[in-house]
Amino acid sequence: MLTSSVAQAPIRAGKGEGETVGIALLGFGTVGSEVFRLLQENADAFTHRIGGPAEVRGVAVSHVGNKPRPGVPKDLLTDDAAGLVTRDDIDLVVEVIGGIDFPRELVLTALNAGKSVVTANKALVAARADELAAAAEATGADLYFEAAVAAAIPVVGMLRRSLAGDQVERISGIVNGTTNFILDAMEATGASYDDALAEATRLGYAEADPTADVEGHDAASKAAIMASLAFHTRVNFDDVYCQGISDITAGDIQAANEAGFSIKLLAICERLRRDDGTEAVNARVHPALVRKEHPMASVSESYNAIFVESEAAGELMFYGNGAGGNPTASAVLGDVVGAARNIVHGGRAPGENTYANLPIASFGEVRTKFHIDMEVSDKLGVLKEVAGVFARRDVSLRTVRQEDGEETARLIVVTHSAREEVLEAIIDELRALDSVHAVHSVIRLSE
Ligand code: NDP
Ligand code: HSE
Repeated sequence: MLTSSVAQAPIRAGKGEGETVGIALLGFGTVGSEVFRLLQENADAFTHRIGGPAEVRGVAVSHVGNKPRPGVPKDLLTDDAAGLVTRDDIDLVVEVIGGIDFPRELVLTALNAGKSVVTANKALVAARADELAAAAEATGADLYFEAAVAAAIPVVGMLRRSLAGDQVERISGIVNGTTNFILDAMEATGASYDDALAEATRLGYAEADPTADVEGHDAASKAAIMASLAFHTRVNFDDVYCQGISDITAGDIQAANEAGFSIKLLAICERLRRDDGTEAVNARVHPALVRKEHPMASVSESYNAIFVESEAAGELMFYGNGAGGNPTASAVLGDVVGAARNIVHGGRAPGENTYANLPIASFGEVRTKFHIDMEVSDKLGVLKEVAGVFARRDVSLRTVRQEDGEETARLIVVTHSAREEVLEAIIDELRALDSVHAVHSVIRLSE
């Protein structure tokens, strides 16, 4: 059966060359204010690129009077976002509010009315992809979300269009600017976790609730979006294994540094081949040790880097600004031009296509290498006992390092690759040994 979403969408006629595209801008915060400024400052260029003027006809905020809104005429401001979306003079809705439930209503209202939508909201797209895509299909409206993944880096367009003729095998990378900023500051300057998070928030990188950043939820939303596009399979936020950086200590970073690694929060999307020959996909987010020589280790501040492996193209690497008002506005405005061109000239961008519908592999099926930092009794036979736990489950050890303490010893073990579920069982068994006083940290290796 043909399940191509592109084939089902109604073909839409354009408004005509030179006609104005009416825009509703929902949100005027870090991103929205930059989108507005750039649209005003470069109005002529946008007119040429679109084929007609792009006019912001309303700006929705939560409270009209509570902040200065530089450059915005008062009569454009409203706190009635729902009313703005349904106005007849609005062709295109740009959603940069954030959250899920409220913007979901607005975006669905717009799409159901045949109005195209550009959103930077990864939480919304990752949580509600099916219903948003279905609404866009039904009316032939466009749904663009380039800014939802890695801000200025064109990841969505690359997966949706550039690699549409290839088979993606794996995507791995740093897709959250806030956590990279924190880890980088802790490693490079010895900044505290709290100070680095406060600075990332001040610079406009963090989400309204930064828990989404530090617990990995933001990166997990991005992983779900990337995996869905890469593998033509719906991967939702809840399908993504997610571990953030809130447990990473200064001690972990120092130990990693001494061993020649940096700690990075990675998002990994992978096509797996099971023992029975069938394929499945997995998406996950967790901190990982990255060897200092790897280009990912030198990604600093709020920058993002994404590595893609595909059958025909081979290895591709993308690097750039992954958060902040301006970089995100760049991605939003690229989508605004695309959507507005279709409104003027007719037609539609390629939509979602989840025809492959591969099963989602559990995290336990994934193969990983672990770096385990333990405190053990400093007595004869302990090393043999610890090594025996790994050997009984057929996991071989790559390196074992022991540092003597006063009465205990620190033991750092790096394993060869094994299934997550096996390694997790090993950690449980180690924790239960009398001779293991503490398992200080368990961090995966990126290689
Ligand atoms: P901000 O918190 O800076 O801005 C949110 C805006 O939405 C504010 O203008 C706020 O109004 C408005 N708003 C909140 N509630 C309502 C409501 N009920 N009705 C109308 N307007 C409302 O967020 P950001 O600009 O940082 O982020 C916006 C979106 O972009 C999020 O989805 C985020 O994930 C995404 N994004 C952000 C990036 C970044 O680096 N910041 C990068 C990539 C994506 P008011 O001004 O009155 O408070
Ligand atoms: N909070 C996000 C980040 C914004 O830090 O990466 C960009 O999506």
